Amino acid sequence: MSRLPPIAPARLPALLAAAPKAELHIHIEGSLEPEMIFALARRNGVALPFDSVQVLRRAYAFSDLQSFLDIYYAGASVLRHEQDFYDMARAYLARAAMDNVVHAEIFFDPQTHTTRGVALETVVRGLHRACVDARAELGISATLIMSFLRHLSEEDAFATLEQAMPLLGRIVGVGLDSSELGHPPEKFARVFARCRQLGLHVVAHAGEEGPPAYIWGALDVLKAERIDHGVQAVHDAALMQRLAAERIPLTVCPLSNQKLRVFPDLSKHNLKQLLDAGLVATVNSDDPAYFGGYINDNFNQTFAALPALTAQDAWQLASNSFEASFATAADKRAWQGQLDECFERHATGA
Ligand code: HPA
Ligand code: ZN
Repeated sequence: MSRLPPIAPARLPALLAAAPKAELHIHIEGSLEPEMIFALARRNGVALPFDSVQVLRRAYAFSDLQSFLDIYYAGASVLRHEQDFYDMARAYLARAAMDNVVHAEIFFDPQTHTTRGVALETVVRGLHRACVDARAELGISATLIMSFLRHLSEEDAFATLEQAMPLLGRIVGVGLDSSELGHPPEKFARVFARCRQLGLHVVAHAGEEGPPAYIWGALDVLKAERIDHGVQAVHDAALMQRLAAERIPLTVCPLSNQKLRVFPDLSKHNLKQLLDAGLVATVNSDDPAYFGGYINDNFNQTFAALPALTAQDAWQLASNSFEASFATAADKRAWQGQLDECFERHATGA
């Protein structure tokens, strides 16, 4: 839509909730709610270092990325069987569908599970079956992105890729996550080159806590098609120009950034600055069970904290999420049409 119909600011929360959208930055292990962690621990006989759901929730007070990752990996230790991965992903997809997510590209961390003796096939079969069933039962489209842990070696990433070879038909791409500082993209140059040769899409977390140089590295060395987070790009004018000119999407996660103290407060978030600079920014939930909200909570709280964000920005963010996805051109066109229709409906008050 080139010209947006006028929309009263009071209608914005309802519009943000109703708008069809894609979620491109969600770690499925980060969707494990404390109740499910305890239920799976019971089911699998896993001992947890927390006495109750309440005690676990109270531990969700993070000072930076690493303080979160420590507890996030502990939570994932309850996942043992194919059905556990299925149940986790089905729960996320049902919740996402309630937020009018029409398409999700879901990260999973293979090494978090294989190092505990869970076969990669167990992980992928459970997650993939949940994606297939969710499409049939909820009408939501979902694909999987296998994310290498950057605190481990490139050799370990290669070994993981080898285990994934028979499963590549169920994976659309690879990513790079975990502790960013001290683990620059260059460390994974060779394994990403191999993944590209195999026809996989490639994305990477960069510029969450790390400097703009890590974003340059993700683009130049890994040839990342999207940057996950990327909010530190604002400190480098030449990088901002490149991201805008090449339409490299950023998958921004405002509540995550607030909880991990990337910004002191949501009101200091730079989402508006990214949009005004013409970047293909999107809004996502990252680890919704840990950061206090799913995708619509991210939209609502960010728009409430940043009054400069307009209905035009809301449309742009949702539209960007489709453009930035790895879906087919036909799917993208259909979702974009639904988005425009939704905005027209809200403008006329129908
Ligand atoms: N950053 C890096 N690694 C992660 C994150 C994140 O925000 N969430 C889960 N793993
Ligand atoms: Zn992330």
